[in-house]
Amino acid sequence: MKVTYFGHSCFSVQIESSTLLFDPFISPNPLAESIDRDQISADYILITHGHEDHLADAEYLLKKTGAKLISNYEIVTWFNAKGVENAHPLNHGGGFEFEFGRATFVNAIHSSILPDGAYGGNPGGFIIEGKEKSFYVSGDTALTYDMKLYAEMADIDWAALCIGDNFTMGSRDAAKAANFVRTSQVLGLHYDTFPPIAIDRTEAKAAFEAHGVELHLPGIGESVEF
Ligand code: NI
Ligand code: MN
Repeated sequence: MKVTYFGHSCFSVQIESSTLLFDPFISPNPLAESIDRDQISADYILITHGHEDHLADAEYLLKKTGAKLISNYEIVTWFNAKGVENAHPLNHGGGFEFEFGRATFVNAIHSSILPDGAYGGNPGGFIIEGKEKSFYVSGDTALTYDMKLYAEMADIDWAALCIGDNFTMGSRDAAKAANFVRTSQVLGLHYDTFPPIAIDRTEAKAAFEAHGVELHLPGIGESVEF
């Protein structure tokens, strides 16, 4: 499946005729200034938690594309109040069959408040069981043994993991997370956007290699195939 990176934790995944866009944060990100958000297409927009750096462009893109929002109940309700009606709420441990396959909302150890101070529910990640391949999106999280369960819930072919440290797992813990979910292919997220999460790419790749995992760090606007 084709995966395109838009900076920070934002990326899109093509599953047959459906485009899934995760955690849109493009226009406030100076590293993503080459990306024109009006060129981004989406059939589904998935949001892991309420922090600004995961949803800054969501209202604009939801209204422009008519994509279906998938997130937790509190975030969906917050967007409903902004006039977004095409939305599907999930909560932890629950999944639903969409056109592209099954999406399950899973645990993340983090916090979640919406940009206006509204309660954002508890933060999460997603397991997506697509028609051909399955993948795990960690959202912002610490390393947790819960990830071992995700390997039992689905055959995870690749994972999108936060690696920037400071606010989330760093590369050493994220490499263990890849082992826990039993995948050898990782897309790195949540790094370099702000000074405390700047990474050394060589060190990050070596940390994953030490666990038998390949870390992919495509440039912003570039695609990788998983
Ligand atoms: Ni966050
Ligand atoms: Mn974040």
